[in-house]
Amino acid sequence: LTKGILAGKQVVITAGPTQEKIDPVRYFTNHSSGKMGYAIAEAAKQQGATVTLISGPTAIEPPEGINIVDVVSAQEMFEQAMNHFSHADIVIKAAAVADYRPRETFSQKRKKQPGEWAIEMERTTDILKTMGENKESQILVGFAAESENVEEYAKKKLQSKNLDLIVANNILASGAGFKGDTNIITIMTKDEQKKEYPLLSKADAANCIIQDIASYIERQNKK
Ligand code: PMT
Repeated sequence: LTKGILAGKQVVITAGPTQEKIDPVRYFTNHSSGKMGYAIAEAAKQQGATVTLISGPTAIEPPEGINIVDVVSAQEMFEQAMNHFSHADIVIKAAAVADYRPRETFSQKRKKQPGEWAIEMERTTDILKTMGENKESQILVGFAAESENVEEYAKKKLQSKNLDLIVANNILASGAGFKGDTNIITIMTKDEQKKEYPLLSKADAANCIIQDIASYIERQNKK
């Protein structure tokens, strides 16, 4: 990897899960640890980028030299991501954003009651889709966390969300996806290149993602 391939670039990255409040003690979330997104932030910084990391709740120490924006819910992540979108050169969405949130939230702890409790869920805003609809010159990089038909679904997301690159991972494959220190990724691009990587540490996977983004930008500039 040649050093400084993102020098002068503004890179916005999202990482981690979101938490969707039910009441003061309960929430919906997912298994994202933030490791993948934080590794990408580190790799982008190493390559000379100015990095803003919009992070859901994680247990990771905030890295040095990176502008961290802490958020909790999908709605907060949406607002912060859109705030940073207009001056970004590259946006990388590694966060596992909730697709649904409780329609109703309670300001007091909801007491136990006899019988069942059904919680009605409503859709959150799709941040990546909104960015795809509003993009000017930004390079948009999405993730696809799938448990089946990984490449087919990833390709659909690449097209329907108007992305430049998509990083697909099979969250059921051993050594891939949520929580662990490794991942198995396939990167597909708008100009129809596809690279399948073997099992890598999330740090190495992050370097591959950064390298593939830089190569994509170089190809675009040659056109
Ligand atoms: O955090 P780790 O424990 O290291 O795990 C890494 C990871 C598995 C979370 C990561 O590699 C990953 O796959 N992140 C994307 C998870 C996800 O939500 O994928 P998705 O296929 O549901 O969403 C597709 C894309 O749309 C993602 O880029 C997501 O950030 C984005 N999205 C989804 C919903 C929403 N409301 N807004 C969005 O922008």
